[in-house]
Amino acid sequence: MDYKKIISESIKLGSVKSEEFYSLLAPPKDASMGEWCLPCFKFAGQFQKTPGLIASMIKDSFRKNEYIASAEVVSGYVNFRLNQKQFIFDTLAYVHHKGEKFSTPAKFTKNADKTICIDYSSVNIAKPFHMGHLIATTLGGSLYRIYKYLGYKVIGINHLGDWGTQFGKLIVAFKRYTNYDELRKGGIDLLNQIYVRFHEDAEKTPSMNDEAREWFKKIEEGNSEALEIFEKFKKITLDECSKIYDRLGVTFDSYDGESFYNDKLDAVVNELKEKRLLSTSEGAEVVQFENDKYPPCLIRKSDGASLYATRDLAAALYRKKTYNFDKCLYVVAYQQNLHFQQVFEVLTKMGNEWAKDCIHVAFGMVSLKGGEAFSTRKGNVILLKDVLDTAEKKALDAINEKNPTLENKEETAKIIGTGASIFFALRASRIKDLEFSYEAALNFDGETGVYVQYTHARCASILSKSSHARFQLDSLKTLLNDETFNVCKVLSEYDEIVQSAAHKNEPSFIARYLIDLSSAFNQFYIKHKVSGDPSRLLLVRCVKNVLKNGMELLLMQAPDKM
Ligand code: ARG
Repeated sequence: MDYKKIISESIKLGSVKSEEFYSLLAPPKDASMGEWCLPCFKFAGQFQKTPGLIASMIKDSFRKNEYIASAEVVSGYVNFRLNQKQFIFDTLAYVHHKGEKFSTPAKFTKNADKTICIDYSSVNIAKPFHMGHLIATTLGGSLYRIYKYLGYKVIGINHLGDWGTQFGKLIVAFKRYTNYDELRKGGIDLLNQIYVRFHEDAEKTPSMNDEAREWFKKIEEGNSEALEIFEKFKKITLDECSKIYDRLGVTFDSYDGESFYNDKLDAVVNELKEKRLLSTSEGAEVVQFENDKYPPCLIRKSDGASLYATRDLAAALYRKKTYNFDKCLYVVAYQQNLHFQQVFEVLTKMGNEWAKDCIHVAFGMVSLKGGEAFSTRKGNVILLKDVLDTAEKKALDAINEKNPTLENKEETAKIIGTGASIFFALRASRIKDLEFSYEAALNFDGETGVYVQYTHARCASILSKSSHARFQLDSLKTLLNDETFNVCKVLSEYDEIVQSAAHKNEPSFIARYLIDLSSAFNQFYIKHKVSGDPSRLLLVRCVKNVLKNGMELLLMQAPDKM
């Protein structure tokens, strides 16, 4: 229900259009003042009257209706109060109608012909899947679901880091130190070990570097042995990543990474040349920017080798051509701010007006509180797998303490541990640096995923205990109280919150919303007896469904018991 529209159309002030009222209406700072408030300062000059007088004129023009109960003047504002009964009825009817699994609301179906590309996770081959990937993966994965819910066509892209001279080194290391059998068993850990060992040995035997260069050249030339080994590295890495993707519930529609663009780079360089955008600097080819807005963007090294940026240019052009995206999001840490500024600016200089639709969704750095314990064991990185394992183990400990007779303890612990980790990663504004703490993430009473899951399980348990099969608004009487009204207010905001989460690429809005809904519900539950009351049971069901669907947008699962 669009209450702003209803209010805008029920008031009058000279020839002011209702759209103008619409854009000014906002919730008042103090919720006790009503649900919507209209500041009148803007009209003071236009009508040569004080804002207070304008507010009174608007109030007098107000036509009471079934949705809005009253208008009240407070200094230069008009505050409107909803008709609680109607509002509660409308909200619960709407949410109830959505059922258990929300599909895209009708108002968003117009998005169906728009495509959003999301480049996320984008791991590097033969490098560990570390904790830094927690946000790159969950933020992107969550945006994927958010845009889907809003009706868009979404293409998830894992822009693999599968190109570079390091693969020459890895082949040398592979041939010197190990074999396929060991690699199969040792996986990505072994790949890392031999890479480190290569560097140690190459210090003593510099010719190893020449050897590595030759192997890389062979990869470039498509030598079958080189490619075979390289593909093995790729498979091992992706097998390892897939396990994590499964645990986090993220999926991709494309794994076209850096190497995919090998045969598309010349075209980019030629186009830049034709458009006279390339210049030479110390033997390398670069694009320079007016007034040195950014440092030059390196396109081709003096030995002819392409760069990360060259590949991103090719990738953007390819994505536009292939998917004709309306937006292309790059979910990548803020360390790469400059890189994306340069790439987007080069695309603009090439005459692509759609470059404005390429958006770097930057996020902060991740560290682990008390992370030293990890770093000694694994070198300098903290593996994401270890973080999830630990969170799950701690969740199991908590279950054993709080609810030892729970069935499916292991399974539930997985859902709680992973959910807590994801929620913790997505809860704060993405640009903030994050210090991950198991204690904070798994706190049952804090603003955590566990708290949200627990509230959901509480709803499930209430519903399962109720023998009352009818869930209906047969009598609204028992719903007419402040706590219920408050729950309904939060419930009614869901779609708008999801929309603004997409608008700002901030799943954190949804995370905070779920906390608000949980606490509004718990305040209601402390005060009001639910069992045997069909209307209140319906409210519980609505809360449960919104919590569940909101969690789904954050890649979280919602157990019924925990
Ligand atoms: N593989 C890169 C890294 O780990 C991230 C790639 C992001 N995507 C892109 N199109 N550049 O730093």
